[in-house]
Amino acid sequence: MSETIIGPADQFAVLPAEVELEGTPYWLTRSEDGVYRLLLAVCPHAGGEVRWTEGTFFCPLHFWTFDQADGRCTNVEDERLQCRDVRLREDGVLVATGESY
Ligand code: FES
Repeated sequence: MSETIIGPADQFAVLPAEVELEGTPYWLTRSEDGVYRLLLAVCPHAGGEVRWTEGTFFCPLHFWTFDQADGRCTNVEDERLQCRDVRLREDGVLVATGESY
């Protein structure tokens, strides 16, 4: 399985954090139960730039909002941000695993 290094976990004391991997913008997030994910910072509706505003992910073009932990759209049914799984290695480095889904 291909893995891409994101960086040392302690470099991301404040989450969500903006991360660029292979020229693609993501938000690095961590759920309440400690699961890290990369959420694509591009809106699935029409490609707006997804921003972190007042505790939620938000697209300023048509106001879709997304769940912090898993990227589910919270105001439009059956829509979500693409995401990539993230693994915390034993050496404390976060790596993206696999492809976007
Ligand atoms: S492009 Fe994001 S809501 Fe339309």
